[in-house]
Amino acid sequence: MLLERLIQQKRLVVLGINSGTSADSLDLCAVRISRIKNKKNIKVLAKNKFDFPASLKKQIHNQIHCKQINPESIIQLDNILGMFIGLKAKEFIKRLKKNNINVNMIASHGQTIRHIPGRVKIGMLLINGTLQIGSLDQIAAKCNRIVTGDFRQADIAAGNEGAPITTGAMFDLFSNTKPRLIINIGGISNYFYFPANKSNKEIAASDCGPGNSLCDILSEKLFNKPFDKNGQIARKGNVNQRLLTLLLSNPFFSNKQVSTGREAFGLKTAEEIIEFGNKFKISYEDLMATTSELTVLAIIKGIESLYLNDKDLNKLYLTGGGRKNIFFRKGLGSYLPDIGIRMVDELGIDGDYVEAAAFAVLGEACLRSESFVNYRHKDKRDILIPVLGHIVQPPNVRY
Ligand SMILES: Nc1ncnc2c1ncn2[C@@H]1O[C@H](COP(=O)(O)OP(=O)(O)O)[C@@H](O)[C@H]1O
Ligand SMILES: [Mg+2]
Repeated sequence: MLLERLIQQKRLVVLGINSGTSADSLDLCAVRISRIKNKKNIKVLAKNKFDFPASLKKQIHNQIHCKQINPESIIQLDNILGMFIGLKAKEFIKRLKKNNINVNMIASHGQTIRHIPGRVKIGMLLINGTLQIGSLDQIAAKCNRIVTGDFRQADIAAGNEGAPITTGAMFDLFSNTKPRLIINIGGISNYFYFPANKSNKEIAASDCGPGNSLCDILSEKLFNKPFDKNGQIARKGNVNQRLLTLLLSNPFFSNKQVSTGREAFGLKTAEEIIEFGNKFKISYEDLMATTSELTVLAIIKGIESLYLNDKDLNKLYLTGGGRKNIFFRKGLGSYLPDIGIRMVDELGIDGDYVEAAAFAVLGEACLRSESFVNYRHKDKRDILIPVLGHIVQPPNVRY
């Protein structure tokens, strides 16, 4: 049986697949994970990006931004996206085979359509949830491989917020003899802190607030560009303090949640920013500078206590597409003059593929039902993250 055979194998090549909140591209990363005695050895082997066809990208963005999801269209998109991911994975697997890399299994995060980490009262229950689409079964069928996924659903069912879920994988990829702080600037920004000597006590991880999500929408609406390349537009503007103060009053900055999404920092907030700008005659460049400053401050607010508690922490490593934004980098540097602002690429993994690599590690752990990872919640509770998810078999597996 394929599943049993896979579990018995000590060395697996896992293809991690991700499309983040920005829905900018499908990122694939092949990672070799070897288990030797109790040690895990991880090596990134290959990576590739695929653009979504324009019509598919439009459908994804429509579903992300629409106020009311229609069940028929979400079911269809789940399958269309699953087929697309499956086809691209198959293409990449074929190419890897020519280089003698045999992909044993796939770990697919899917595309987040809704993320509701905070609990709301529904009848007698307090409910939170999250939705990632891109049918795992379609991927399994196209690639004839076992696929793991639905990691966020598992985290919700375990009583958490559906994010952060890659803390254990990021620990495996980046923890070191020195303390490490990794900041991911994707659609949403988040951080992972690992104390020195790979200690798994006092690990911290949380979303910070917006990453590129608001800036991307402003860039599209005001400048007809999908994003603010290198932060060029923001660098031409000035921060409007009144608007910044308003944006900082977003409830996420004062609540105890560790996770947020486009529901808090998406289209609705971007429209409010534009409306505020029109009312008070603020230039588009100033709106971009102010919104970019919000990202910088969100990150600073998220990580400031880490520096106070760990005197040996003197660097941070940026990952995700936003690491290329010079406004963000300069902004972080101005608030943290004694801290080296570095790129995660220096640590040996291309910052465009860190999440895909982390999902590969997570997927392998899911296959092996690996035990719990500890980390410290921002309200100082210790959280246990079960490394769980779904394991989907291809339909034509021979028993
Ligand atoms: N050269 C660049 N300059 C500024 N921002 C960039 C650049 N390249 C990518 N980005 C930003 O990074 C985003 C994608 O980052 P990514 O880490 O893939 O986010 P997600 O995980 O949400 O998909 C783009 O939407 C864009 O805002
Ligand atoms: Mg992306």
